[in-house]
Amino acid sequence: MEREKALAIVEKQLKKKRYEHTVRVMETAIALAEHYSANVKKAEQAAIFHDYAKYRDIKEMRRWVIEEKLPQDLLEYGDELLHGPVGSVMVEREVGIKDPEVQSAIYYHTTGKSYMSLLDKIIFIADYIEPGRSFLGVDEVRAIVYEDIDQACWMAARNTVQFLMEHEQPVYPDTFHLYNEGLMIKK
Ligand SMILES: [Fe+2]
Ligand SMILES: [Fe+2]
Repeated sequence: MEREKALAIVEKQLKKKRYEHTVRVMETAIALAEHYSANVKKAEQAAIFHDYAKYRDIKEMRRWVIEEKLPQDLLEYGDELLHGPVGSVMVEREVGIKDPEVQSAIYYHTTGKSYMSLLDKIIFIADYIEPGRSFLGVDEVRAIVYEDIDQACWMAARNTVQFLMEHEQPVYPDTFHLYNEGLMIKK
């Protein structure tokens, strides 16, 4: 699918700010894909559609989790986690994107997971570091992402786990697994 056509499709689904975020994620993901010799076209497509489901009705998303037999524990964590997994299915049903690699990157862009593919890592970290982000610690991640994308993903997971725990919010297990994986590899 052409970039302009894909962008026009998501623009209708998103609020202006989120659409602008999507364009920045796309630019960041393309730069990372070029740097790491990943499939640039797939990185572009996954980035454009990563937040496709972001503003869908929460009840509707919960229904998709049940009807599409996605992991049911998604229903027990914050609603913020739903749009990745649900979006990965919606883009196939509504837009015709049937590409397991692209869909996986959309699926895991919020939580991360252990054993991510290169494309998963690119979308996960592009969403985290795009120039509009100002999380505590994000500059440290930006500084290393072109040298070591695994370390960058690990730092993002660490920061997220830390933030959620400080605010006594639940941490989805996939994010813990990504955090633990980084520590295991370092030994
Ligand atoms: Fe998202
Ligand atoms: Fe996003």
